[in-house]
Amino acid sequence: MRPPPQFLLLLLYLVYPCFSVDFLFNSFNATAPGVIFRGDARVDSSVILLTNDTNQYSLGRAFYPTRIQMKQTQNSTILSSFSTSFVFSVLPEIASSPGFGLTFVLSNWTDPPNALASQYFGLFSNATVSSQAPLLAIEFDTGQNPEFNDPDGNHIGIDLNNIESTKTAPAGYYNSSGGLVPVIMNNGQNVHAWIDFDGPNFEINVTVAPIGVSRPSAPTLNYKNPVIANYVSAEMYVGFSASKTTWVEPQRILAWSFNDTGLARDINTTNLPVFLPPSSSNSLSAGAIAGITIGCSAFVVILSFGLYRFWLNKKLKDQEEDEIEDWEREYWPHRYSYEELSQATNGFSQDELLGSGGFGKVYKGTLSNSTEIAVKCVNHDSKQGLREFMAEISSMGRLQHKNLVQMRGWCRKSNELMLVYDYMPNGSLDRYIFNKPKKLLNWKQRRQVLADVAEGLNYLHHGWDQVVIHRDIKSSNILLDSEMRGRLGDFGLAKLYSHNEVPNTTRVVGTLGYLAPELATIAVPTAASDVYSFGVVILEVASGRRPIEMGRDEEEDRVLIDCVRELYVEGKVVEAADERIQGEYGVEEMEMVLKIGLACCHPDPQRRPSMKEVVAVLVGEDVAAAPAELLSDLARGATGDNNDDGGREVAPSQH
Ligand SMILES: *[C@@H]1O[C@H](CO)[C@@H](O)[C@H](O)[C@H]1NC(C)=O
Ligand SMILES: *[C@@H]1O[C@H](CO)[C@@H](O)[C@H](O)[C@H]1NC(C)=O
Ligand SMILES: *[C@@H]1O[C@H](CO)[C@@H](O)[C@H](O)[C@H]1NC(C)=O
Ligand SMILES: *[C@@H]1O[C@H](CO)[C@@H](O)[C@H](O)[C@H]1NC(C)=O
Ligand SMILES: *[C@@H]1O[C@H](CO)[C@@H](O)[C@H](O)[C@H]1NC(C)=O
Ligand SMILES: *[C@@H]1O[C@H](CO)[C@@H](O)[C@H](O)[C@H]1NC(C)=O
Ligand SMILES: *[C@@H]1O[C@H](CO)[C@@H](O)[C@H](O)[C@H]1NC(C)=O
Ligand SMILES: *[C@@H]1O[C@H](CO)[C@@H](O)[C@H](O)[C@H]1NC(C)=O
Ligand SMILES: *[C@@H]1O[C@H](CO)[C@@H](O)[C@H](O)[C@H]1NC(C)=O
Repeated sequence: MRPPPQFLLLLLYLVYPCFSVDFLFNSFNATAPGVIFRGDARVDSSVILLTNDTNQYSLGRAFYPTRIQMKQTQNSTILSSFSTSFVFSVLPEIASSPGFGLTFVLSNWTDPPNALASQYFGLFSNATVSSQAPLLAIEFDTGQNPEFNDPDGNHIGIDLNNIESTKTAPAGYYNSSGGLVPVIMNNGQNVHAWIDFDGPNFEINVTVAPIGVSRPSAPTLNYKNPVIANYVSAEMYVGFSASKTTWVEPQRILAWSFNDTGLARDINTTNLPVFLPPSSSNSLSAGAIAGITIGCSAFVVILSFGLYRFWLNKKLKDQEEDEIEDWEREYWPHRYSYEELSQATNGFSQDELLGSGGFGKVYKGTLSNSTEIAVKCVNHDSKQGLREFMAEISSMGRLQHKNLVQMRGWCRKSNELMLVYDYMPNGSLDRYIFNKPKKLLNWKQRRQVLADVAEGLNYLHHGWDQVVIHRDIKSSNILLDSEMRGRLGDFGLAKLYSHNEVPNTTRVVGTLGYLAPELATIAVPTAASDVYSFGVVILEVASGRRPIEMGRDEEEDRVLIDCVRELYVEGKVVEAADERIQGEYGVEEMEMVLKIGLACCHPDPQRRPSMKEVVAVLVGEDVAAAPAELLSDLARGATGDNNDDGGREVAPSQH
């Protein structure tokens, strides 16, 4: 195996120590960990384990091998900033034992003087007279030590060379409505932590959330005080420290990313190992488990329990939702119960049906707090496929943008997946442009919607390290919010269908008329094939016509792209414009929008503009200022050689 790229980066850094520090460990390699260890810390099955269970007093630290620069000179009071994020798991052997947790630390030394194990995190001394030394830690404390004024047994604190925190906050995160959702840090679950250290403002923000919850926008703990400059030296090691006494409590670091010039890169949380206690896979309470172990005839008890469950399952089969499986706990911001969704939609009543698209039915619902939601029911044949899909979608739960329809959560019942979205009161774009709509969008609104969707798609393509391909862009997947602004829905859903290999269907996913021609042969969607579909949407919106208008037979079918292209070749592209909005647009502007649409629909994926370029044109005030190179060669495909073009040829893949 090749060394991971972060390892190369590390080497680079060692050679050029003046470079900024930026690394990402999605797992740790025992032979080349990329970090240095002190005490009992080590790599154990691809994660850092900080303490050694068999030693009564054990402490361990893991540091990035080189110090990072925190200020120009020792005397300077101007601090540098950094951003870091990591995933940890703390799992006491006995749930009720007094635990300690772990710390993220900035230290002038890898072995801080007089550091003690047990409740001192292997970091602080028991000195009662506080002294200023370059040691600053953020504790994730899972035990209450009244002697240090700990508020409770599950908190986060800022420690300035002192085990007694200068500020603490209960572990949890603020949800979208500002409520604090507690995060239990010592039940083994993978906890994602983010620390933003704003040097110039002497501000530290700490945020925690379980894996699967997208990064909360408000920090759990905010500390701002120039005094931190006294605890920071010119260069410091960054890393982790933890310790234990009698009680066994493995503290693990599963992944770690760091950037001292900007935001730390995203950790890929999809395949991180999970260290949950063995009992978590069934729904027995901890108390019942203890009862069973204490009972001398545990076997009999388990057997009878099994029978009981069997009976119970049989009895509740149809009313009760499926047992939650382990992997499901890892995903999503919010798991709704089936009852909750059923209630919200009046038992999935036909009256609440908003529509039924390729992916299943969509219902309107109202939660008990009168929030309106849309519930999309997706049927799926295999649980395995569902699981992969969930992993995929879960990482997409982080995608948040004003021009995307926000996903709120999910629910699974058997092989049916229910995805919960924000409700979009105005429905989809297609209802406002084709045929004889109740309400016709005017040109200004259309321009706005196109710009909105372009921005949403640009975010999917370029807003992340990973390119997210939508795969099914069409006017019925573009929803209008209460202000008639456009939002892209259903992103990522198409992926479910490519995981789901049903015989008799090909793997091409998308919608006839919007599919890029190359998909007929390579079947691998790319950002460019999304651009193509978006180009079709542009043409639809400008012309008010569907991508394919069916004639009496195939000969008479009209492919929109071909029509527009022909008009373009004849030098009268503006004639493609929607007659119903005549007079609302400037001719130049309309021409340019149609040309951008054609450019996006270029038969050669390489020649299509990127969404960045499309946004620049559509969002820019002066649409006529589109760079000429985007608009060259628009005629291609309009004449005789257009057989590989226009979308018609992929028709068989749809049925
Ligand atoms: C760990 O690092 C060693 C040495 O660089 C390498 O040979 C090995 O393949 C790596 N293992 C993994 C799982 O990456
Ligand atoms: C843990 O400590 C024991 C006793 O000191 C030692 O024998 C063992 O090798 C240590 N385990 C690891 C993985 O370092
Ligand atoms: C830093 O401050 C100390 C004490 O205030 C002073 O003795 C020393 O010269 C200063 N160092 C620099 C580089 O300014
Ligand atoms: C940091 O540690 C170095 C030795 O590694 C020492 O020379 C320096 O004085 C220490 N800085 C402070 C502020 O204690
Ligand atoms: C601090 O710890 C040392 C070493 O464990 C011990 O000898 C000393 O008595 C402790 N002092 C206090 C004040 O607890
Ligand atoms: C936010 O958290 C609070 C407190 O836990 C809870 O009552 C509320 O329902 C949550 N809101 C959302 C939108 O999840
Ligand atoms: C820290 O959080 C506050 C909000 O509580 C925010 O105003 C500030 O910009 C954040 N600072 C950093 C460095 O993230
Ligand atoms: C670190 O942050 C800087 C500044 O935002 C950014 O340019 C750089 O790409 C970041 N590093 C990574 C790998 O994300
Ligand atoms: C995360 O890792 C999984 C497999 O380990 C991979 O399939 C997926 O594409 C990765 N996601 C990102 C965002 O890199």
